[in-house]
Amino acid sequence: MKITKICCIGAGYVGGPTMAVIAQKCPHIQVTVVDLNEQRIADWNDPNPENIPIYEPGLSEIVAEARGRNLFFSTDVDKAIDEAQMIFISVNTPTKTYGKGKGMAADLKYIELCARQIARVAKQNKIVVEKSTLPVRTAEAIKSILDNTGNGVQFQILSNPEFLAEGTAVTDLLNPDRILIGGDTTQEGEEAINSLVEVYSNWVRRDQILTTNVWSSELSKLTANAFLAQRISSINAMSELCEKTGADVNEVAKAIGMDSRIGPKFLRASVGFGGSCFQKDILNLVYIAKSYGLNEVADYWEQVIIMNDHQKRRFSSKIVQTLYNTVADKKITFLGWAFKKDTNDTRESAAIYVADDLINEQAKISVFDPKVSKNKMLSDLDYLETRSSEDNRDAISVFDNAYDACKGAHAIAILTEWDEFTTYDWKKIYDSMHKPAFIFDGRNILNAKQLESIGFVYRGIGS
Ligand code: NAD
Ligand code: UDX
Repeated sequence: MKITKICCIGAGYVGGPTMAVIAQKCPHIQVTVVDLNEQRIADWNDPNPENIPIYEPGLSEIVAEARGRNLFFSTDVDKAIDEAQMIFISVNTPTKTYGKGKGMAADLKYIELCARQIARVAKQNKIVVEKSTLPVRTAEAIKSILDNTGNGVQFQILSNPEFLAEGTAVTDLLNPDRILIGGDTTQEGEEAINSLVEVYSNWVRRDQILTTNVWSSELSKLTANAFLAQRISSINAMSELCEKTGADVNEVAKAIGMDSRIGPKFLRASVGFGGSCFQKDILNLVYIAKSYGLNEVADYWEQVIIMNDHQKRRFSSKIVQTLYNTVADKKITFLGWAFKKDTNDTRESAAIYVADDLINEQAKISVFDPKVSKNKMLSDLDYLETRSSEDNRDAISVFDNAYDACKGAHAIAILTEWDEFTTYDWKKIYDSMHKPAFIFDGRNILNAKQLESIGFVYRGIGS
């Protein structure tokens, strides 16, 4: 099937950027991104492309180029499903917060709703593409819903997991390491796979497009995230040992990263990984392993999460201990709230958990983040339900520049590795703080020697 019309259900961090790039690279394909969230769609349609709801370097330019030409954002889900030959499902698959598998399994209710809606609306054969990250064998459930509730038309289900990282979404989409497409090994399945291969071939080399069976594709996505997160927990585990032994984790990471079998990437010790994917996907992997009775496999991967939780708690404890075992009524300034630089996403950001711990110790938190709004920070804290919303509002002050945020602080904590933090006038900041002036660098991005020569007491991770 030659694809000329694509629909994507879910205009989030994956659906939005992914479809913008497909539309830019395939001007002959009409791409419609739909969502139930009216505000989100209105924001994607904002006349000023700078105001689109997701901040990603380079994204607003692509949206400006393609929107209205062959890229459309709409709340009319039925119409977009009806018109498209290929439908991507890119809705959220969060960790379940209720019932069986609570706190572990992926919540597939949004996926099922999409499948039922596609089945109800589709009057012609469709290719349905799983773009969301899903438990292995979800395609089976989608197929069953489509075949049992549909109008007698044929559906082919493909798995096409997304490997982009936030903050680098556009470059990752334009130059992917690989595109993975899983499909049925029947002739119809292979034809569906080829249709999607054709789409990507508009800008990705054929040898970088990998085709597999559906189950390998679904499981590869969970495996990739588990391996990536495992590297971070591994280096973070070493960071604690470094602090006890006088070794420096940056030097250790460099030394092991030069081994070509290990490689240098994803070895930055930190306050702990955040983001919407790693924790959710590993918990899901653990749940799947347990459901097959593979308890050793489950325990092995669960340790990645246990280590990450420990690293976040260890950071807040270190702040309390260093500040003479009390932070009550002390002003602690957070530089950064996003889970990594170059994104406005805060899901599972370490900053939320460190703030929560310190507020329990009655600290007053001031925050500056170049891209995150005050409302977002407050709703992140409220979501934990540790205390009343009013108490969270009392405990947090948000500033629109770092210098004001740091004025009168007892300590500064770096929670996100925004580049601009390295370029500040740290002498000016030091002069405006209580003494001794402490810096807890949760990202190891600042120059320790230079800060110590100004007078700061500097504490990095793993040294
Ligand atoms: P998101 O929450 O940003 O976006 C999902 C969107 O889907 C929301 O806007 C929601 O309103 C919409 N939605 C939910 N149900 C709907 C329905 N029935 N009809 C129409 N719209 C509906 O989520 P995201 O970060 O884009 O993640 C989507 C999927 O991609 C998840 O499975 C995630 O694990 C996976 N993923 C995410 C990333 C990432 O970096 N964020 C990377 C790779 C894979
Ligand atoms: C991740 C995967 O990288 C991506 O392939 C997948 O599609 C979605 O999940 P993302 O969560 O957007 O992407 O960002 P990533 O760069 O992986 O960072 C995740 C977290 O790990 C961030 O909090 C980051 O700061 C942290 N991190 C990353 C470290 O602490 N150290 C590192 O060396 C790398």
